[in-house]
Formats: sequence, structure tokens, C-alpha cells
Amino acid sequence: MSSDAATPIRLPPECETALLERFLKAEAMALWTVRSARLQDVPQNVYAFLRKHEEDEQQHLSQFETMIGRQPRERERLPSVPRQWPALAVQLYGYESLGLEFATLLVTLRPDLVSIREDELVHVEFFEQEIHRILRGGAAAAEQARVSALAWWRKLPRTVDRYLEATVLDPCRQALAEQILVAIDRRFRETGLLQRKEATTMRSVRLDQEEGR
Ligand SMILES: [Fe+2]
Ligand SMILES: [Fe+2]
Repeated sequence: MSSDAATPIRLPPECETALLERFLKAEAMALWTVRSARLQDVPQNVYAFLRKHEEDEQQHLSQFETMIGRQPRERERLPSVPRQWPALAVQLYGYESLGLEFATLLVTLRPDLVSIREDELVHVEFFEQEIHRILRGGAAAAEQARVSALAWWRKLPRTVDRYLEATVLDPCRQALAEQILVAIDRRFRETGLLQRKEATTMRSVRLDQEEGR
């Protein structure tokens, strides 16, 4: 699939600080998740990639720390990640896809940070290849990846809302969330993680959540 097609919403300049602060949190989370993933039993080529991936996320985090002038909140423990590789691959692919959407938004305000977006694209493309490999492999692993993807996708609207929590983002929050969810829905369907009969519109996911289904 084309990983680079979206035309992002342009945010007004007053959103820049809020967006950078969101990135400080998100890059810290990405770094800790990669560290946690490196402790799991993953294929050899993935292990090699995760070493470089960790360096990238560490560098991104340092850039945001310098720009904002503070460090993210400390964490006592690394976040837990799935032990089974197909489920872990979906989680890494999903969060990197989300990171890429936010990085796309970021460069509309800060074109000087384009190298961060380029790195995120490399991360997404690596895990996308791994997802293709899993889906073409054994039936049990493919099924596990699809079940994990559906569960991750169903939680995504709340995750995106959390990331967009800032008063200055209020006027564009709904349009931004919609754009991000549509992009990730399309990506998951094109890779084959969400199949047509399972693919749900955002409206129905939100309705499910509102009704506590
Ligand atoms: Fe990053
Ligand atoms: Fe990344």
C-alpha cells in the first residue's frame, strides 16, 4: 500500500506547543514499548531492527525534551506488551501507524522536524512487512494477528481522544480524530488485518463504546 498518501489537516500555529507536549509523552511511550518488546521472544530480524528502532525513539525523545525544556514523567516499570509475536507485531504496527499520523500533522506546523516523520515511516513499513509475513504464514498466527488487530482497533478512538486532549485542540479535535481513524482503518484493511466483514465504520465503533458494548 502507499504509506504516504494523506493530505493532513493544517493546524493553526497556536497548537504547536500542545502538539509538542503530546509528542514528549508519545515518544517516551514509544521508547519504553520498544524496550519492552526487545525483552520478548521475537524473530531474529525483528530483534535486529528493534535495536535501531530504540535508538531512533531515544533520539526523537531527546529532541522533544530539548524543545520543551523538560523530561517526561518517570515510569517505574516498562509497559507490558503481548508475549506472542503476532499480537506484539500488531501492537507495534498499530502504535507506529498512529505515530506516523501524528508526525504527519506535526510537520504541517514544524517542517524542520520532517526527519522524525521519515523515521516513523521506516518503522511503520518494517512492521507492515512483518504483518504481511505473519498473515501469509500459519493459519493460527494469522488468526491471532487478526483478532489482536480488531481488539486494538476497537480501543483506538479512546486512545486518539486521549492524545488530542488539550483545550487549544478543541475546535479541530473531531476532524483530527476522524482523519487519524480513517487512515489507520484503511491501513489495517489494506494489509489484511481487518477483513471486510469485520471492518467497522468509526460511527459504529463509537456507538459501540457509548453503549458499552
Ligand atoms: Fe518516534
Ligand atoms: Fe516510531
